Amino acid sequence: MTTFTKIPEDQTPCISIDVSRRVAKINPNIYGGFTEHIGRCIYGGLYEPGSTLSDKKTGFRKDVLAALKELKVPVVRYPGGNFVATYHWMDGIGPREKRPTRPELAWRDTETNQFGTDEFLQWCEVLGTQPYLCLNMGTGTLDEALAWVEYCNGSGDTHYANLRRRHGREKPYNVKYWGLGNEVWGDWQIEQISKEVYATKTVQWAKALKKLDGSIELILCGISGHTSWDHHVLMECIPWISMHSVHIYTSANHRHLPNVTAPRSAERSIQITSGLIDLARIERGIPPWVPRQTICFDEWNVWDSGRANPERGAEEQYTLSDALAVGAWLNIFIRQAKDVGMACIAQSVNVISPLMTTKKGIWKQTTWWPLLLFCKYMRGETVGVHVWSGCYEGETEPWWIRSISCETPWLDVSACVDEDGWAGMVVINIHPEKSFKTDIKGLKKVREVKVFTVTGSDVEVRNGDGVENVKVKESCWDAEGKFTFGKHSLTLLRWKVVDFGIGGDREDQEWERI
Ligand code: AHR
Repeated sequence: MTTFTKIPEDQTPCISIDVSRRVAKINPNIYGGFTEHIGRCIYGGLYEPGSTLSDKKTGFRKDVLAALKELKVPVVRYPGGNFVATYHWMDGIGPREKRPTRPELAWRDTETNQFGTDEFLQWCEVLGTQPYLCLNMGTGTLDEALAWVEYCNGSGDTHYANLRRRHGREKPYNVKYWGLGNEVWGDWQIEQISKEVYATKTVQWAKALKKLDGSIELILCGISGHTSWDHHVLMECIPWISMHSVHIYTSANHRHLPNVTAPRSAERSIQITSGLIDLARIERGIPPWVPRQTICFDEWNVWDSGRANPERGAEEQYTLSDALAVGAWLNIFIRQAKDVGMACIAQSVNVISPLMTTKKGIWKQTTWWPLLLFCKYMRGETVGVHVWSGCYEGETEPWWIRSISCETPWLDVSACVDEDGWAGMVVINIHPEKSFKTDIKGLKKVREVKVFTVTGSDVEVRNGDGVENVKVKESCWDAEGKFTFGKHSLTLLRWKVVDFGIGGDREDQEWERI
């Protein structure tokens, strides 16, 4: 959790971290991924049979797997996205030569079904990640959904469990996470429905799915967390679900400061959804021993659909500004860790992704580097931080960010302490022209701080195939004096915590600095 005090622009900023203020556990699932049948995400992305870069037997791209292993991706959502609204999972199982090729309506494409349920679940096993399957609540039926759960998880002598066995897989996959549709509220969806119809249908589906397999966790389909849809469906469906899904993409058409402050809207959305969850629990009388539902931010990223048209594969080329925005997104998941049960960057390969493939290998976008730093080091528990700095006061995207009192400080900060006692603090200086010499409190007796910096020559700079203008630079700091956060940069400071026990190093701290 990070609190903030605005100070005049000519005063020295200060960040005070109190590692004894353990605010919430960070769910490792906030570093989840998403792979949809769209563009080159599956075909030519994670799956390319015949390529010298792929495993001969499975067709899985080995370089993609190695990159995602570096991120330790804990969970991956599949098969969509909008794609799922007309997807019939049975088309994608069994002998490949018998699988039908179908028109694909979400992205006006053709689906060959050469990659399906078994391929995805085996890919997850190779990656060492948990699958999260999204059900077709567009043209799909409850019977199909039940059959899918049985195919994946059934251990008895039943039809679909036996079908899985006939396809060579004896033991169940035990898929735990199941999404109750994707964006079924949107007018771009096949079989778009109203919140009332969705809520009624979902309760019926959830009842049956849970009867079939009580161990699964169901994820409700929300919008952005701050709509009457979210309110209604939570109120009606809360007894059945473990998480409420929200989707937000941010962008600001190359205007740097609106771009990097846009994720603040998602922070408010988490806070609002958290309130809606509590409201629904109170009104529906959910007893305290039923675990509190969390938020599944199962599509998030920077995405300018003008730059990256989804019907042309949605391949973005991200700027440094976008990398800082991705850092700001991740800071939010750390700060709001109490409420976020899962988050999936959309998407994991090629499609609005930090990771790109070519026929010859992979390359990493600007946005890869903040993601990698967070995945490696920002784990454990969120800790309390207070920031004193000036702030951005211009236009925001969406316009309402400051009208609901979201702050947009020049220094966007989150901090944590991991299980091995390493503190991590990410500071994003969003200012395009000004570096900030900053006092840092709470580092008493710390001798060495490891410093990881992501920046570049200007906010518009990009990476490309063989071009790495933006990456991570490593250095050290002796924790003496002020630290300078360079203009348009993301800095991760990491140090071994000196444990002062509960209450921290209170006597020695100079709280009244300003
Ligand atoms: O991630 C791309 C698309 O964005 C997804 O298919 C859809 O759910 C969202 O609108």
